[in-house]
Amino acid sequence: MSSLTTAKAWIALQEHYRQIQNYSMREAFEQDPDRFNKYSLHLNDILFDYSKNRINEKTLPLLVELGKHCQLETKIQAMFSGAKINTTEHRAVLHTALRNRSNRPVFVDGQDVMPGINKVLAKMRSFCQRVRSGEWKGYTDKAITDVVNIGIGGSSLGPKMVSAALAPYSLPTLNVHYVSNIDEADLVSTLKALSPETTLFVIASKSFGTQEAMVNAKSARKWFLDLVNNDRLAIAKHFVAISTNTELVQEFGIDTDNMFELWDWVGGRYSLWSAVGLSIALHVGMDHFEELLQGAYDADEHFRSQPFEQNIPVIMGLLGIWYNNFFGAQSYALLPYDYSMRYFADYLQQGDMESNGKSVDMEGEKIDYDTGQIIWGQQGTNGQHAFYQLIHQGTKLIPCDFHAAANSFYDLREHHEILVSNFLAQPEALMRGKTVEEVLRELPPEQRTDSVLVAAKVFDGNKPSNSFLYKQLTPETLGSLLAFYEHKIFVQGVIWNINSFDQMGVELGKVLAKVIQPELSSNEVIKSHDCSTNGLINAYKKLRQT
Ligand code: F6P
Repeated sequence: MSSLTTAKAWIALQEHYRQIQNYSMREAFEQDPDRFNKYSLHLNDILFDYSKNRINEKTLPLLVELGKHCQLETKIQAMFSGAKINTTEHRAVLHTALRNRSNRPVFVDGQDVMPGINKVLAKMRSFCQRVRSGEWKGYTDKAITDVVNIGIGGSSLGPKMVSAALAPYSLPTLNVHYVSNIDEADLVSTLKALSPETTLFVIASKSFGTQEAMVNAKSARKWFLDLVNNDRLAIAKHFVAISTNTELVQEFGIDTDNMFELWDWVGGRYSLWSAVGLSIALHVGMDHFEELLQGAYDADEHFRSQPFEQNIPVIMGLLGIWYNNFFGAQSYALLPYDYSMRYFADYLQQGDMESNGKSVDMEGEKIDYDTGQIIWGQQGTNGQHAFYQLIHQGTKLIPCDFHAAANSFYDLREHHEILVSNFLAQPEALMRGKTVEEVLRELPPEQRTDSVLVAAKVFDGNKPSNSFLYKQLTPETLGSLLAFYEHKIFVQGVIWNINSFDQMGVELGKVLAKVIQPELSSNEVIKSHDCSTNGLINAYKKLRQT
């Protein structure tokens, strides 16, 4: 038995779960008109309502006790201070330093990282200003009209999501595209509409060794060189790199003047705040990028200073633990009622699942409790007509987070009111459900004796959700929301006593793909794998047209 599941705080929560498992949120709301005020918090323009959860006045104190037992407070301070909390890779975890708008020193190995961060931010500012103003010219003296970000995982998902979310702040004269997939369809279809004269490639790869990013970057370089008659000097005007690896960047043919640095203490999935955010800054401008950093900084300050009972990311993390480890919920749905947030769930799938998909603890012991949740979701109204049925009436408990902006950037007011009505109605429906009596009242008399119909129309309700309502999706608001989720992941990793900052599990498949690739071009019948893999390889070789 692990020390977590034998801890007093854990056992107290198990006992509490037994008492509360049939607790009705609907009754709780009927009995306590102040429940919303008790269970909601604010940060700047963001309202966080967590009143539609299966919690009573005892639950949060017990969860907070668990956080204390796991030394959450000390561990939060350790992360911010630059301690090497990524113990398998012996690295600090300092995405918070990237948005440290106070500029107070943060030390790694005795060295303040802030001057280096500020230097890169200044370089990004000057570069973005030149490209966006048209001062930066391509090889035929034309201004840049299209930026293609080539990168995968953390070097794509965050920037892509933020670019989409902040599109109302973008320049109409500069399009930003994201290519990540090794499938040639991704690159080819993007390049089809572009001209090499006016395209800027941003090769984003922390390692500069990730196969997908490098193969796409090389194909982009070939596409470019073929169209510019192999004029290698032209590369300097059309390719920039973001990486920790200067040598590999140079080897690729990109001048280090055109390289934006990041550091090993920036995890890939936490890197959009670093130079990896260059494509965001090109898209929306450096001022807005820095507002994004400011919003995240505000959330960081909230996280490191607020008592757990009033701390939004701590509460998000603890509620996730409550459902995952006590109610046995396997997954968690993210449901923004905001088209701008259409890549939010994709982004947090990596953020959460790559961080907390672990089964050994910080001491290397196999653990005996559930860790990372399955994160999924998509824009709310689309989801309503696709998968909400299962959330409402299926057999699984799926906690959900809903998001919406009070103000849209566009003018079709009726659309926005309908959108927001749905954002409000779905959590209400999930919580209230519909009783047999209510169903009978609604049915015409001749159908009331149809017991099958009645049973099908009953909703159990009591389905938990959080709601985030914000004034408008500004860069600051987005920055705060993203930082909340990053810290939620951290809180859960601390409780589960796992290293949320390595990702060894993605390696095996990559290694095996490198073994298989040469086998695809050989004429031999392949026999070196299990019979399924051999069968598939040999079938592919037969089906493939030469
Ligand atoms: O394969 C997983 C991963 O290492 C992610 O953690 C990372 O975000 C992604 O690959 C891309 O890595 P890089 O930025 O080094 O190309």
